[in-house]
Amino acid sequence: MALQNQKHIFDLPEDITYLNIASQSPAFKAIYEAGLEGLKQKNRPYTITGSDYFEPVVTLKKLFAELVDVSDYNRIATIPSASYGIATVANNIVLQEGDEILVIEEQFPSNYYSWKNVADKYNATIKTVNKIEKELWTTSILNAITDKTAVVTLGNIHWSNGSLFDLKAISKKAKQHKALLIIDGSQTVGALPFSVKEIQPDALICAGYKWLFGPYGCAYAYYGKYFDNGKPIEENWSNRLDSENFSGLTNYQEVYKPLANRYQVGESGNFIYIKMQIAALQQILEWTPKVIQAYCKTISAEAVKELRVLGCEIEADDQRTHHLFGIKLPENTDLDTLKKELSSNAIFVSFRGNYIRLSCHLYNTAEDFSKFVHCLTSVLVK
Ligand SMILES: Cc1ncc(COP(=O)(O)O)c(C=O)c1O
Repeated sequence: MALQNQKHIFDLPEDITYLNIASQSPAFKAIYEAGLEGLKQKNRPYTITGSDYFEPVVTLKKLFAELVDVSDYNRIATIPSASYGIATVANNIVLQEGDEILVIEEQFPSNYYSWKNVADKYNATIKTVNKIEKELWTTSILNAITDKTAVVTLGNIHWSNGSLFDLKAISKKAKQHKALLIIDGSQTVGALPFSVKEIQPDALICAGYKWLFGPYGCAYAYYGKYFDNGKPIEENWSNRLDSENFSGLTNYQEVYKPLANRYQVGESGNFIYIKMQIAALQQILEWTPKVIQAYCKTISAEAVKELRVLGCEIEADDQRTHHLFGIKLPENTDLDTLKKELSSNAIFVSFRGNYIRLSCHLYNTAEDFSKFVHCLTSVLVK
C-alpha cells in the first residue's frame, strides 16, 4: 500500500528541506514523548523497578528481530555503536596467516579499523575491492572471493552513494569458500527490506540513529552461530544468567544468558534510550521498509531525471537505493557558491568532494527534491 507523506508526525520546521537523514535522523513526536517519559522516570528514581532494567530490552530486541527477520530475539544484542558491534565480531574471529579480509573501497571507518587490528594480529591481509569502470560492484566483489578469503565485511550498499551489492550472491560465494559474512546495515536497515533468513550473514550490525530513528548512541547487532560461545568486549552483571535476582549478584555467575545476550553493552537497560528506540521501531514496522523505499523512489524520480539532464552522474536506478543516492556534480560546478546557495535556502545535504549524497524519508516530498534541483540549476547556469 502506498503511504502518504508523514511530515505531520515530525517536528521539522516548515521552511527547511532536510535531505540528509543518512547523517542523522530527526525524531518524530512519539520518540520525543517516549524520551520525555524516560526523563520523568529519572526524576523519580523510586518508580524504576527491577523489571525496568530487563523487560523493555526484550521488547526492543523482539522488534528488531522482527524487522530483520530473525526468529529468536536472543540472537539480537543492543549496543552503543556500529563500531562496538564490529569490534565484538573482530575480537572473536581467529584467522590463519595469509588469510584475507575483504572490504570495499572507501568503506566506512567503523567497519575498517577493527579489521586492521585483526589483520595485524594474525598476519592476515585486508583486500580492498575497488570500483571498476563499467563493471557491477557485485561482479568485482564475487571475483575477489577465493579460498584465501576468511571474512567478507561490507554493507548492502556503498554508504556514500547507495550503490547496491547483491548480498544473496555474495553470501552464496562466501559460504562456498567458508568465509564469514559480516554486514554493516547502518545505511539500509529500516529503509530497505533486509532478511537474515534470506541472506544468512554471520553477523549484522546497524547503527541506530539514522534509518532506525534512535538516539545517537544506540545500535543493534544480530550474531549467528559462529559467535555463540565468544568473548564480549566487557563483562556486565546483567548479561549473566539470573541477573534479575538483584540480591544474588555477588554469587558470581559463570554462565551467560543465551546466545547474543553476552554481547549486550553495559547499562543496556537505559530507560530513556530504550523507550525512544521502542517507539521508533514500532513505527518503522508499521510503515515497513518496503513501503518507505517505494515512497522515496516516487518522490525522487523526477529530480533524478532532471539532475541527469543537468550533467550530474547518478548510478542506474536499478543498481542503487532510492532512500540514499549519490550525485557526481558536473566538473565545472562552483562548490562554494553551491554550498552558500543551499545554505541560504535552508537545504541540507551531505557533501564529499565533488559528490553530494541525498537521503530522504517519509517527511520529504517531490517538492523538496525540486527545490534542490532548482538551487543547483541556478548555480550551474550562472
Ligand atoms: C556505513 C556506516 N556504518 C556505520 C556508521 C556509524 O558508525 P558508528 O556507529 O561506529 O559511529 C555510519 C555513519 O555514517 C555509516 O555510514
